[in-house]
Amino acid sequence: VGEGDPAILTLPAHSTSLGKPVAANPYGVPSKYEGNLQRRESPGLTRVSQASVAFTPLQGLFGIITPSGLHFERHHQGWQDIDPSQHRLMINGLVKQSKVYTMDDLMRLPSVSRMHFIECGANTAMEWGNVAVPTVQYSHGMLSCSEFTGVPLSVLLEDCGYDKKNGKFVLAEGADGSSMTRTIDMSRALDDVLVAWGMNGEMLRPENGYPLRLVVPGVQGVSWVKWLRRIEVGDQPWASKDEAVHYIDAMPDGSYRQYTSIQECKSVITTPSGGQTLVGQGFYNITGLAWSGRGRVKRVDVSADGGRTWRTARLEGPVLPKCLTRFNIDWVWDGGPCVLQSRAVDETGYVQPKINELRAVRGTRSIYHNNAIQSWQVAASGEVSNVQVY
Ligand code: MTE
Repeated sequence: VGEGDPAILTLPAHSTSLGKPVAANPYGVPSKYEGNLQRRESPGLTRVSQASVAFTPLQGLFGIITPSGLHFERHHQGWQDIDPSQHRLMINGLVKQSKVYTMDDLMRLPSVSRMHFIECGANTAMEWGNVAVPTVQYSHGMLSCSEFTGVPLSVLLEDCGYDKKNGKFVLAEGADGSSMTRTIDMSRALDDVLVAWGMNGEMLRPENGYPLRLVVPGVQGVSWVKWLRRIEVGDQPWASKDEAVHYIDAMPDGSYRQYTSIQECKSVITTPSGGQTLVGQGFYNITGLAWSGRGRVKRVDVSADGGRTWRTARLEGPVLPKCLTRFNIDWVWDGGPCVLQSRAVDETGYVQPKINELRAVRGTRSIYHNNAIQSWQVAASGEVSNVQVY
């Protein structure tokens, strides 16, 4: 852009012609110039696309809310678009009275709206051994954040008269073909779990569980059962396939950890990040996301020298519990090679670990719950790539 810039000197057609009428897109869609920003499947990650993941393009998003159309997708047996008039939620087991609710029954109950992140326990799974994927979309994109609307599960459990003495757990079951069931302990079920139909002010998208899903704040995505059709109250955990065979953590001594549900404090720089190129030395805003399944993010530090020195970033409000928090920090790039990192601390005082600290406790055979500090290397050419710094 310089003197005599034709983009300024020549009047473009859009300044001299009639625009499109209202409601040309009755349900709005993004600009055609934003077509590159898409959920993407990692080629070769799974054998079939019905049991797969489409990752959220974190590198292209602002603030903390994920647009509904870019919310990551993780299905075990494909997604369905279920007719809400045919959908039912049954509550049974250790209750005074088993009940079956229609969507109309549920939506007349007192609802709440809460902003929370959802992260698959397998987010960043590929990086346990070594650098595996090039961009933040693939390394951290099983992460999204929305405002969810629904009825607290506690209201429904009270409505059915759950057994307060022996009802220690609930089992959530989905209506898709994957037989997805997860055990949730009663104290959590009564705390902040929602039976939700709303996401970002509209009904849930079919890919995300329309018309009903469980929202389990701070807990790994697998417990957020989609197309929710049944809640059973019981006196012990069910040890179903998705908690006995899958979603267990391989430990270095050969044992497996079961029922690890909370997503510990984690952060990642989304710009500059892998696959991007800096356009020359000088000022840049470093921006990223931090979150904790245990509550609020208290602080995020950023290093531009591979972890030798740290500066504290600005947390942009609102800073909500079990929700994404946006951080920003000014940075002047001197044009030399460097390594960018972010390290989050949550309100419990827990500090996000380095990858070698995490490996010392967890080994390298695990799939789930990798919350290590992410390193992005900036080359003198400005190209940014995924590296591991010990
Ligand atoms: N619920 C059902 N019924 N079937 C599924 O395959 N996938 C689970 C969970 N709930 C799943 C499900 C997993 S592993 C995750 S990470 C989250 O949904 C993903 O939610 P999303 O697709 O809305 O991002």
